[in-house]
Amino acid sequence: MTTLPDRCNVLLIGTGGREHALAWKLVQSRRLGTLWVQPDANAGILALGTPCPAPFTPRERFFLNSWLDRNDVHLVVVGPEVPLAEGIVDDLQAPGRRVFGPVKDAARLEFDKAFAKQVMRQANVPTADGRSFSNLEQAKAYVQARDVPMVVKAAGLCAGKGVTVCDDAAQAVAALDTCMRSRAFGDAGTTVVIEERLVGQEMSVLALVDGRTITVLDPCQDHKQVGEGDTGPNTGGMGSYCPTPLATEGIMESIGRDVLVPTVDALRRDGIEFRGVLYAGMMLTPGGPKVLEFNTRFGDPETQSIMPRLQGDLVEILWRTAGGELDAAEIDFDPRAACCVVVCSAGYPGAVTTGHAIHGIEDAERCGRAGEQVIVFHAGTAPGADGRPVTAGGRVLGVTALADSLQRARDLATEAAGRIRFTGAFFRRDIGHRVLPAAAAGRAVGAPNA
Ligand code: AMP
Ligand code: GLY
Repeated sequence: MTTLPDRCNVLLIGTGGREHALAWKLVQSRRLGTLWVQPDANAGILALGTPCPAPFTPRERFFLNSWLDRNDVHLVVVGPEVPLAEGIVDDLQAPGRRVFGPVKDAARLEFDKAFAKQVMRQANVPTADGRSFSNLEQAKAYVQARDVPMVVKAAGLCAGKGVTVCDDAAQAVAALDTCMRSRAFGDAGTTVVIEERLVGQEMSVLALVDGRTITVLDPCQDHKQVGEGDTGPNTGGMGSYCPTPLATEGIMESIGRDVLVPTVDALRRDGIEFRGVLYAGMMLTPGGPKVLEFNTRFGDPETQSIMPRLQGDLVEILWRTAGGELDAAEIDFDPRAACCVVVCSAGYPGAVTTGHAIHGIEDAERCGRAGEQVIVFHAGTAPGADGRPVTAGGRVLGVTALADSLQRARDLATEAAGRIRFTGAFFRRDIGHRVLPAAAAGRAVGAPNA
């Protein structure tokens, strides 16, 4: 068995907020040698790692592989779903080198919702009743015959945009047309999954899986809608918190027993070993927790709330997960609550302007009392000409606070986010409102951004 090197050279794939949180935790490891990062990563990641000159497109895997060999890279950590769906893990595994993330056949749980549904059905995993269709007329006939609130999902990867929650058959027919006739999501919408609409609170349960051992991380919640009170269009995520008080021991036990274990077992029975992060997007319905979707990677912005609480050596944890020896890794959680508030560019989730200088990061990180901490993770940023970061996307920064209670963590993250200044900056002040007492849920802290 390959042993963990004393100085483990790591390549981190991915350029956004989730990867900055991973990089932040990786550089705290005493096992880390060189941290290589993508040359087009955000300014926060580039400040922690050395840009890797290798190309990343699938066709150039041969060159990437030889670059990894020449530079003695022991561990590759894959953040985003697209390279996983392209099979990067299969391509980069080599003797003496481990790759954190699922192989393509296992990543299919995320990039093919029809496959995920089939695995869940086989394994008796609680999920919304649903059916998959590749024929538009048959799909329309199905929704018209049912005429109840339904959800139409493009089966492939759509960066969170392929799901339409519908009140009735007419809306479902329109969603089917968008997907299958107008091909708004390209090939990702050739097949659709139509399922019953569930009601309840959503929760993200992320687990490290090494093929056999499953270590469930403390559960999170995120807020997808752009506006306060969960209004307006969906985004990639406006904030997150960890742990969530909704997750009782009983709920977590049932998710482990009825969702994670049977899913990993079902894949194994089909000859697929799942290694990496299995992320179950759950809805807590009156009939018990049900799976909305699987992701096969860390969540964004959940990771910005998980990493600051994770205790243990991340190089070692990821190395052992990738090598099937997760039981030898020590993993614990800081008892403090974490809350991440995402600071966005005006117009997000629509078109935004970029290149605006970002001020106030150090000031934000100074917020808080003894025993508290604020960390500003970069998402859509780039290094500016004068060394200061500039905006480079819709979600610009994730401001995470650690404090004794979720209430305090939320207030502190909100206050710190208020110290960030760039043209058009905005953020939600009510992250956590779904689980905080009503009186405190919408309390605004901090001044509006300039
Ligand atoms: P997904 O990408 O499948 O997680 O869907 C994105 C979002 O759509 C979820 O976070 C939910 O808010 C919503 N959604 C997905 N499936 C359902 C469902 N069966 N019932 C109600 N809402 C859903
Ligand atoms: N926070 C949702 C996701 O990462 O897919």
